Amino acid sequence: MTTMQPHTTEIAPRLDTRPEWKALQQLAQTDGALHLRDLFKGDSGRAARFSTEGPGGLFMDYSKQRITPSVFDALLALARACGVAQRAAAMFRGDKINITEQRAVLHTALRAPRGATILVDGRNIVPDVHEVLDRMAAFSSAVRDGQWRGHTGKPIRYIVNIGIGGSDLGPAMAYDALLPFTKRDLSVRFVSNVDATDFAEKTRDCDPAQTLFIVCSKTFTTLETMANANTAREWLLRGLGGDAAAVARHFVAVSTNAEKVSAFGIDTANMFGFWDWVGGRYSMDSAIGLSTMLAIGPDLFRDMLRGFHEMDEHFRTAPLESNLPAIMGLLGIWNVNFLGAQTLAVLPYDQYLDRFSAYLQQLEMESNGKHVTLDATRVSWSTCPAVWGQPGTNGQHAFYQMIHQGTPLVPCDFIAFCASHNPIGNHQDLLVANVLAQAEALAFGKSLQEVEQEGSAAWLAPHRQFDGNRPTTTILCPKLDPAALGRLIALYEHKVFTQGTIWNINSFDQWGVELGKVLAQRIIPELSGATPKPTHDSSTQQLIARYRAARGL
Ligand code: F6P
Repeated sequence: MTTMQPHTTEIAPRLDTRPEWKALQQLAQTDGALHLRDLFKGDSGRAARFSTEGPGGLFMDYSKQRITPSVFDALLALARACGVAQRAAAMFRGDKINITEQRAVLHTALRAPRGATILVDGRNIVPDVHEVLDRMAAFSSAVRDGQWRGHTGKPIRYIVNIGIGGSDLGPAMAYDALLPFTKRDLSVRFVSNVDATDFAEKTRDCDPAQTLFIVCSKTFTTLETMANANTAREWLLRGLGGDAAAVARHFVAVSTNAEKVSAFGIDTANMFGFWDWVGGRYSMDSAIGLSTMLAIGPDLFRDMLRGFHEMDEHFRTAPLESNLPAIMGLLGIWNVNFLGAQTLAVLPYDQYLDRFSAYLQQLEMESNGKHVTLDATRVSWSTCPAVWGQPGTNGQHAFYQMIHQGTPLVPCDFIAFCASHNPIGNHQDLLVANVLAQAEALAFGKSLQEVEQEGSAAWLAPHRQFDGNRPTTTILCPKLDPAALGRLIALYEHKVFTQGTIWNINSFDQWGVELGKVLAQRIIPELSGATPKPTHDSSTQQLIARYRAARGL
């Protein structure tokens, strides 16, 4: 437990007292009330004005956001006043900006080129990063080409990643996203939930002699991961006749905690490390991505890192007015803090990005779901919206009704690609036509008059009318490949950073997950042991009693 007071820079003015914030409040009353129909009608150059191309042809059209040039300028002024560029520079150079844990925040070092220098406590960490990458590459190649064999001499065919949160969501998302690039005769699975069903179903068809477990945990203490890792070890030993020596050929660990890894029984020679300056939700490009490297191979993994790095460099160097992550963050601030949006839908039009929104939920909500400022006072402004979504076109037939005609304002990020990995018939045209149509319909809607002109009866017309004016951003990229995925993730990482900086919160701790963990530890023995003393509230007590009764206790 840290008792030392963190060293902080001077206390920032309250966000809502800044003149730039007040200017935006004013603009929300005027420009914020304008309709996208009128904004487009009044400015033939609007699409070009509010679009930017970033690295790798990543094109972002945010002209369907409810902004005007004055709003855009005011948002940039806010970013300048809040020191987004200065704080980004502090992050990139390794200052301990995670003040509650007194840690540097250096996921960007994970994708720094070999010759770069980034100092943490006076030590250049870039060679350490590349040393681990090289070890991962040697190991991955050995598994992929069959040199690394299981205990009985058979090659590995099943990889099971055991981890949760940042030790699961990124790798699981990346495996799906990069499926066309994977070695298809290696089947990679992800076990995260402490619900035994997850382990049982994912290992159901695995041959223990050909299965490799990667136990991924930054801390190597997480309840779910340790429970699943123990179950995996029992499963393996049962399947291989109980010889404990088998563990060495079937288990590797990814962690920052060598001591716990070896206490678990995994030889630290089979451990891939990372560092406390990598947050769990920012770790998929560290050794936590070992399953990704096993699936796509070291060269493509490095391509992914190159994509990340390109977006890092863009964020670090591009002027604010053409800086994609900064603009994205600012648009979110406008929607949340000035237009009153409480959620953000992220809607990829690519089936391979099936798990992208789930990944972003942790990245955004664990980072910016905070109500205390860096100066330890309560915010009096909204922070992170709830992030949700799933790939189009499926969502169109489920929840889009609410986005079009419901009462909440739901800003959307659409993500689409020009080329498909499966160019069959005209599916890609159908897919892309749909994403463009949704953004158009959300922006412009359909007036009552138009509905009536189409012949709708007066009583029916209000039901068929669309207000429009629903803000969206469309990201259009050439094709989903490892580098494109890296760019896309870094885009969101730095967007989260921009917003955290403006909200003046620490995007890099997660104290809010602690209480539930502690209470669970207290309840675990009460579910199966001697009748617990009634120390809980009556509701919890009642539920415990009912569970115990159902289990015959
Ligand atoms: O409980 C939240 C959390 O700490 C996340 O921040 C983290 O990604 C996840 O648990 C898993 O942690 P670990 O990698 O240490 O097992």
